[in-house]
Amino acid sequence: MEAISAKVKSILTKHDSRKRALIPILQDIQAEYNYLPELALRIVARSLEVPLIDVVGVATFYRAFSLKPRGRYVVTVCLGTACHVRGGPKILAEFQKRLDLQPGETSPDGRFTLETVACLGCCAIGPVVVVDGDYHAQTTTRKVETILKKYLKKEKKNGRSKKDRIH
Ligand code: FES
Repeated sequence: MEAISAKVKSILTKHDSRKRALIPILQDIQAEYNYLPELALRIVARSLEVPLIDVVGVATFYRAFSLKPRGRYVVTVCLGTACHVRGGPKILAEFQKRLDLQPGETSPDGRFTLETVACLGCCAIGPVVVVDGDYHAQTTTRKVETILKKYLKKEKKNGRSKKDRIH
């Protein structure tokens, strides 16, 4: 609790006190925690002197923000029409099987969150999967294991665990 409070206050001090804009502040908090903890929203509301309901309103309006804890790697499988006809549902099923997650769920170890999206705006390279901001084009079920291994390897290399990030 205290650690979140201190971290959010340090994020707030980085933003110009005269024109503190809510969205960049929320983006920084989300970058730190992979979601927006309730305590952080309360601190931001108090600091900006705006009602908490307004802060929550912005946080829930934008899909990029999450009020629920998310994994360090967010796997987003596109199920828009173009990706759907090229095998999107099969790719999603493969991620579900390998991660043992349903869309919207986060693994208990805090590594992965599985999500779906209606279109990522790059239909020509579908089926598309985005992990940790990286776009994986023309994905197939056979590529799923390779994709997941890449991020597990990355995590090992960084030597980070959930405890290192969430205080
Ligand atoms: S339908 Fe998947 S990127 Fe458009």
